[in-house]
Amino acid sequence: MTRLLVRDLAQLATPGGVGAPLRGGELREVAVLEDAFVLCRDGVVEQVGRMAELGALAADVEELDGRGLCAIPGLVDCHTHPAFGGDRVEEFSLRAGGASYEELHAAGGGILATVRATRALDETGLRARVERHSGWMLRHGTTTWEGKSGYGLDRETELASLRAVRAAGGEPTWLGAHSVPPEAADADEYLDFVLAEVLPEAAGLATAADVFLERGAFAATQARRYLAACRDAGLALRLHGDQFTESGAIPLAVELGARSVDHLEATGEVGARALAGSDVVGVLLPASALFLGRPMPPARALVDRGAAIALATDFNPGSSFTTSLPLVCSLACTQLGLSPAEALSAVTVNAAHVLGHGHDRGRIAPGLHADLVLLGAPDWRYLAYHLAGDVVATVIRGGMIVHRR
Ligand code: NIG
Ligand code: FE
Repeated sequence: MTRLLVRDLAQLATPGGVGAPLRGGELREVAVLEDAFVLCRDGVVEQVGRMAELGALAADVEELDGRGLCAIPGLVDCHTHPAFGGDRVEEFSLRAGGASYEELHAAGGGILATVRATRALDETGLRARVERHSGWMLRHGTTTWEGKSGYGLDRETELASLRAVRAAGGEPTWLGAHSVPPEAADADEYLDFVLAEVLPEAAGLATAADVFLERGAFAATQARRYLAACRDAGLALRLHGDQFTESGAIPLAVELGARSVDHLEATGEVGARALAGSDVVGVLLPASALFLGRPMPPARALVDRGAAIALATDFNPGSSFTTSLPLVCSLACTQLGLSPAEALSAVTVNAAHVLGHGHDRGRIAPGLHADLVLLGAPDWRYLAYHLAGDVVATVIRGGMIVHRR
């Protein structure tokens, strides 16, 4: 039995949201305790309260001095692409000079450049990359993360990507329909192949499936076929949708009962209302919009119409080379018009719901995983206030200190 007491915290801040993702005004309901403690036991939170309520403790409890620090739940990154080889720094430089992301993709660069670099790695090399990326996430306070495949697009590399995410402690999502690889004649032929040859094994390794529904990637009819087969194989469903064009991702997500539709930079009023009226979570990726110089998603309209939203990094080499959820919270407040409370709910409990972990992660409450971030700040809102996101002092996962600055 191991017990850890985090004591004398300046503040402890946690969202609610027990049974379902928080939506609309519920996202603002963050509970803040001053002069607080958290007691962890065997990997879960045992007790939370004010220091004045802390009773006598046994001698074997490890104590952590929380003076000058604020505790929030461990952050949950529900959308990342960590299984890749190489980098896209050359493409980044070309884009800085005016080339567009879609042009580079159409010319065989973009995602397909990373597919070539990822296929060139053996499984050990791929695992080392994912392990390194998960270390970056941890230092930014991410204690639970989802990792997609999608840079293999062949049987061996897709399955190796899913195994690498699982081995590094992530929740694997099979993004088998990310792009059409050069050896396939077209998207339909490629889907014939992945659904017959990759899905049976991918369904045993991943917990969800994802598709890039977009001009130049997969059309709505193709996305429906892929997702329906994945659902029948037992996977939860996610979609990359409305990144550049409104291509029917929201109606398809609602029709199929997907967990989320992610990006939404091109979503208009009709789409926002449809999403807000459904149980699908809108996952907003402002770092990706910033990195590509694209319009920001309509976060304020979504929340004001009652939608459930989450925020994530979209960490990947091409459109969002960051693993920092604190930075994403800053962007949420400065670019999306969200409040720090809405941002906190979106990177903790709601992101946990997107991963099927809303019941045991994303909040600080007795019985939940003892995953905490201690911010080196006098007020928990520094999570978003510090623009560089440089506020994470200590990370606790499963009741153990796993990172300390
Ligand atoms: O979510 N949009 C599709 N996929 C990724 C980017 C992939 C890449 O550029 O390598 C995204 O932004
Ligand atoms: Fe993505």
